[in-house]
Amino acid sequence: MKDMRALDAIATRRSVRRFAPREVPRDLVPKLIAAACVAPAPHHDRPWRFAEVRPETRPRLIDAMAAAWRADLESDRRPLKPLDKPLARSRRQLTEVPLLLLACLELGSTRDWPDERRRAAERDMYVQSLGAALQNLLLAAHAYGLGGYLKGAPLFCAAAVAEALDLPPGWQPAFLALLGYPAEKPEPPPRPAVGADDLLIER
Ligand SMILES: Cc1cc2nc3c(=O)[nH]c(=O)nc-3n(C[C@H](O)[C@H](O)[C@H](O)COP(=O)(O)O)c2cc1C
Repeated sequence: MKDMRALDAIATRRSVRRFAPREVPRDLVPKLIAAACVAPAPHHDRPWRFAEVRPETRPRLIDAMAAAWRADLESDRRPLKPLDKPLARSRRQLTEVPLLLLACLELGSTRDWPDERRRAAERDMYVQSLGAALQNLLLAAHAYGLGGYLKGAPLFCAAAVAEALDLPPGWQPAFLALLGYPAEKPEPPPRPAVGADDLLIER
């Protein structure tokens, strides 16, 4: 493991989308999940679930997501944008990535509030906690010398993903994390400095 301080890891993590053709050591997978699962969470809960998508299962996942994407666009009743190129790119990314993890939410332990406003807030808390878990995962990957990025596509076709991977009941697919040893060193995206804009105000 590289020696990396927390602030360095936060500052130098980048979304990496090109990977060296090198396997991720098996023992790193549970370590990444363990790092994700020490994130802050509502009610001392741990509402996150992860599935490692093995190479032999990926075609089923990719086909299911592609079919759901097409079906959605067809039901929009707008002129269809050509899908072949983006689908081929996505298929290549998901096929070639060394380690593919699906992050899911499990909302079985949310409180059952009597009104919709509080039920929605409760759900939001859980959904947002998955972001904390995934940031932990990306930072841990970075500290282990890996790179990666998230894809939110499963949120848009959760039922198709759950069926394709035969997920346990209650697992709601949310993000794919694509991980591996980096084959690129991306520049940080342009972002305004905090203080030079309205990101932080005092009241
Ligand atoms: C919720 C979420 C969804 C994302 N979805 C995608 C995605 O579908 N495809 C992709 O290439 N990157 C995706 N990303 C990565 C962002 O594009 C990336 O974080 C952003 O450009 C900032 O770059 P950085 O991560 O290097 O700081 C996603 C990031 C987040 C937080």
